[in-house]
Amino acid sequence: MGDHRITILPGDGTGKEVAVEAQRILDTIQNHTNHGFEQTVIPCGGEHYLNTGEEWAEGSFEFCRDETDAIFLGAIGHPGARLPNGDLAGGSVILGLRSGLDLYANVRPIKLYEGVPHKVHGGFRQIWEPGMVDMTILRENTEGLYHALLRRSADRAQGRPEYEPEAMSFPGLDGEVAYDPRPISKAGSERLIRMGFDIAETRNGAPADGVRRVSCIDKSNVTRGCQLFRRTFDEVAANYPGTEKDYGYIDAFMQWLTRNPEHYDVVVTSNMFGDISTDLGAVLQGGMGMAASGNIGDDHAFFEPVHGSAPKHAGQNKVNPIASINSIQMMMDYLGRKTGDDELVKVGRMIDESVADHLRSGTELTYDLGGTTSCSAVGEGIAVRLAAKLSEEF
Ligand code: IPM
Ligand code: MN
Repeated sequence: MGDHRITILPGDGTGKEVAVEAQRILDTIQNHTNHGFEQTVIPCGGEHYLNTGEEWAEGSFEFCRDETDAIFLGAIGHPGARLPNGDLAGGSVILGLRSGLDLYANVRPIKLYEGVPHKVHGGFRQIWEPGMVDMTILRENTEGLYHALLRRSADRAQGRPEYEPEAMSFPGLDGEVAYDPRPISKAGSERLIRMGFDIAETRNGAPADGVRRVSCIDKSNVTRGCQLFRRTFDEVAANYPGTEKDYGYIDAFMQWLTRNPEHYDVVVTSNMFGDISTDLGAVLQGGMGMAASGNIGDDHAFFEPVHGSAPKHAGQNKVNPIASINSIQMMMDYLGRKTGDDELVKVGRMIDESVADHLRSGTELTYDLGGTTSCSAVGEGIAVRLAAKLSEEF
C-alpha cells in the first residue's frame, strides 16, 4: 500500500518525550504491514525560540502544508517564552497550523478504558463503569474567542503582516481595556456541526442508551454568536433524521458532563467552550495523559495529545504516552478514511485494542494512573502488543 508523509513536531518539554513514543508506533506499523511512513522531524516551540530566535525554521509551515499527509505535534509551551508582542512563543506552530491549514474541527474523544481510574476526586476512586464514558467532543478550531490570535499566528507562520482587530470602544469602560472579539460565522459553525453528525454515524451511540445523539453546547441564552451556532445546528440536524438532537448551555453542561457522562455521544461546541470542557472531559478518562486529539480540516490534519508540555515533568521519562499513542490511532483512522484504505482504519482499531489490553492488564502504568512505569516502557509495552496483533493479522 501507499506511503504516507508524516511530519513530527516534537515541540516543548514532555512533547519531545511523547513524540518518540508516537514515532515508535509508526515504526511498529511500518515494520509489520506494507504501509510505509516517511517521517520528517522539525524542531519547534518556545524553547526553540529562546535558543534560535525562531519558532521553527523558515519554510516549516509550507512543508507542513505542501509536503505532508499528516502531522503529529507533541506540545507547545515553555516557561517564560513569549514573543515581543506578548503572544505565546511557538504559537505559529500550534495556532498557525490550526488557522493556516483551516483545521476547523478539534476532535477530542473522551473514553474511560477498563483498568483506568477517573480523577473526579483527584484520587483513584471508581464511580462509573468504564463503558459509561465514551464520547467525542468537537471544538470549533478557527474562530470564536481565539479568532484574532489564530489569524495573527497563521500570518506570522506565513510571513505576512499580522492581523489586528479594528479598535473598538466600549461605553462605560474607561482607561486601558483589552479585548478579544469572538466572531462566530454560520459557515464555520456549519462545517463543524456537519462533521459532528458524520462522526456520530461511525460510533455506537451514547453509553446510557445506545442512542445516536449530537449535543449542541453553547450559551445561546445570552450571546449572539451562540444563537447563530444553535440556529445552524438545527439546520444541519434536519439532514440527519436518524440522530437525536440535544442541547445544553455550557455552564449546565459542566455539571451534566460530570454527573451523567453516559448521556453523551457526540458534542459540538465553540472554540473556548471546547477548550475548557475537554480539560474536564480528560478528568473523566483518567487525566490529561489519556486525552488524544485531532485538528482536522478538509485538506489537512494534525494530531496531538491535549496535555501540553508539562514543564515540571519534563526530562524525567515519566509522563503517560497513551494520549500520543491514541493520537496516532486517530491519524491512522483519518488517513485510512481519506485514502479509502480500510486496512489503515483497521490498524487504528488495533492500536485502540493494544492500549485497551495494556490498561486492562493493570501493570506497567505511568504515575498518573497510579503506577511507577516510565513513559518509554509503557510505549514499548503497547508497541509490543501492537506488533503481535499486526503480525497475526497481516
Ligand atoms: C489546547 C491548548 C491550547 C489552546 C494552547 C496551548 C494554546 O490549551 O490545545 O487545548 O488553548 O487551544
Ligand atoms: Mn486547552
